[in-house]
Amino acid sequence: MSGCPFLAKKHQFFTSKHVTEEEDDAQKGINKASKGGIVYGDYLVLDKVLNAQVLQSELKGDKVHDEHLFIVTHQAYELWFKQILWELDSVRELFMNDGVRDERNMLKVVSRMHRITMIFRLLGDQFSVLETMTAMDFFAFRDYLTPASGFQSLQFRLLENKIGVSDNLRVPYNRRHYRDNFQGTDSEVLLHSDKEPTLLKLVEQWLERTPGLETDGFDFWGKFQTNIEQGFKLERQKIEKMTESEMKQDMLEDLTKQIDLFTSLFDSKRHEHLLSKGDRRLSFKALQGALMINFYREEPRFQVPFQLLTSLMEIDTLMTKWRYNHVCMVHRMIGSKSGTGGSSGYHYLRSTVSDRYKVFVDLFNLATYLVPRSWIPKLNPNIHKFPYTAECYDSSYNSFSSSSSCSSEDSD
Ligand code: HEM
Repeated sequence: MSGCPFLAKKHQFFTSKHVTEEEDDAQKGINKASKGGIVYGDYLVLDKVLNAQVLQSELKGDKVHDEHLFIVTHQAYELWFKQILWELDSVRELFMNDGVRDERNMLKVVSRMHRITMIFRLLGDQFSVLETMTAMDFFAFRDYLTPASGFQSLQFRLLENKIGVSDNLRVPYNRRHYRDNFQGTDSEVLLHSDKEPTLLKLVEQWLERTPGLETDGFDFWGKFQTNIEQGFKLERQKIEKMTESEMKQDMLEDLTKQIDLFTSLFDSKRHEHLLSKGDRRLSFKALQGALMINFYREEPRFQVPFQLLTSLMEIDTLMTKWRYNHVCMVHRMIGSKSGTGGSSGYHYLRSTVSDRYKVFVDLFNLATYLVPRSWIPKLNPNIHKFPYTAECYDSSYNSFSSSSSCSSEDSD
């Protein structure tokens, strides 16, 4: 034994007696599994999940190692799509059953939407695992899986439909409707999802009810328009007082552009026109609500709605990133060959990385209409109580109430 006191102590610490005592302690637990009840593998139905990796290359007598990774990656994606749909459906249900009239439920909505964004983040990164496979490795088994293609992913299409990807903005697939690639119950399920209220529609209806929009109340829109006109008038007077110069001309031109922009914002007919082209997706009133939430996001009642609008944009952004990461990987794996599903492959997918597939594009565009704080209609807390008093449904009184007696105790 060493004469070093540290080592001597260390030796003492690791004596077999000590380890045995610790092990003994660990053994004092109860082996509950031996007493019956469901065990891990059964609970997760692992016999099905872990036996669902059927390598086509192996079936054809030409086993290719990387096909296992290819299958597991797709299955992992599909499981996460399932979880996203689960969360999305629950959020849509809350909106559909008017659950969000009880504003205490908004926290539930926002938490679930946040969870969806977290999953999408993971999905964007997950491609890097599949990218450890080379194009040559993929080439070795690609023919065995034709004509299967991600294009036939039912859950992906359901996701797009339920969020609100517009049918007439989709890029045509081999000059045919995307649904033609689905048969039987899959086709029916898709058709049904096309008819259900989308998240976009439900959020639109909710935004239209934004407190403070009422023309006989705070009348945000009317006040905002007056302030904008006044603001631009003062701006113009200020610029016109300047001595003639190139800078003055530039400033006047810039101001005219700004005025045009806002004139079109207040023009309901122009809004309808943009809606019909797909350049705007929310109704005129809903757009006003969204702008209001943006401006008054610090007020207690608008904080959670603001978080919801933020996560909706996040979902659009992350889906676009998903499309982008996917198409980059596809380019690397198959170059410009056509896809196993029959599309032009890379070129088709590249055209889907666009605003056509963005659902909440209006929320992004709100930043165009930001104005100095002093132009935003002022709220007087003594007169305008709505930013502080939430609408809630108190089950103990069995009626809608708009009072400070709201409590979240009874929500799960
Ligand atoms: C080596 C890897 C991959 C390649 C080469 C590839 C290739 C393609 C191609 C060429 C298409 C266009 C349709 C076609 O003609 O087949 C497509 C569509 C699609 N793929 Fe992949 N893919 C790969 C991995 C994945 C993964 C891991 C997923 C995850 C679920 C996925 C999901 C999809 C989806 C949802 C579409 C439809 C996209 C749309 O139409 O907007 N793909 N893929």
